[in-house]
Amino acid sequence: EYEVQAEVEYTFRRRNADFWGYPSIVGCGPNATTLHYVESQGGIKKGDLLLMDVGAEYEHYTADVTRTFPVNGKFSPVQAAVYQIVYDAQEAVAKASKPGATLSDVGRAGTEVVKEGLLKLGLITDKNSNQYRIWFMHGTSHWLGMNVHDVGGGAKFEPGVVFTNEPGIYVRLDALDYLPFGWKQEDWEKFKTAIRPAFEKYKGIGVRIEDDMLITPDGAKLMSEALPRKMSDIEDFIAKARKQL
Ligand code: GLY
Ligand code: MN
Repeated sequence: EYEVQAEVEYTFRRRNADFWGYPSIVGCGPNATTLHYVESQGGIKKGDLLLMDVGAEYEHYTADVTRTFPVNGKFSPVQAAVYQIVYDAQEAVAKASKPGATLSDVGRAGTEVVKEGLLKLGLITDKNSNQYRIWFMHGTSHWLGMNVHDVGGGAKFEPGVVFTNEPGIYVRLDALDYLPFGWKQEDWEKFKTAIRPAFEKYKGIGVRIEDDMLITPDGAKLMSEALPRKMSDIEDFIAKARKQL
């Protein structure tokens, strides 16, 4: 992980970025389920997903981009199931992004998709509850500018504003070991019994996809769209890179 991090940060400076905009997050396998994992001490293992949340600061403005890809070049069926939900949630956020909307509006659109997906995977039992928070514990979006988490609050979008689009699902290995805040023990026990089979299937998987959105007069543009994002594009990208090597 630290070797990958070093390659990224070397490239930032080599292309004349000031530095990183925030400490790089490079986590493989279960390390991808820790939100701000900055230790970069794990190995890169075949069969695992590698999550990279990295952004350069250039002329005082920072990028904030995440890609999650399979180390061996192919998503496994269980990895793909989780990835597709996060991808669809990102698409929902992008679709809702237009002048007049707010971060909360686009957040709701993305979160709905995550909830729907988690229910299908069997990781939650009730879509109309906060259960999804166990697997998706951050917002879909924050303002982006001179700071990575920039100011802006509840302001309505207008052409020229920039924010992130970053849904994720994190099946932490110890997720069922602690009673979450606000839960009754009895409900927690019932929940754990119901979702245990899905947990065993998906545990250790962490997926986040993050792009930077620029509001335009009639919608939004993904400023980071040059980076492969669809699963098939990521697999093609890795296959091509291997050939070049
Ligand atoms: N890229 C780190 C964060 O959004 O918190
Ligand atoms: Mn972010």
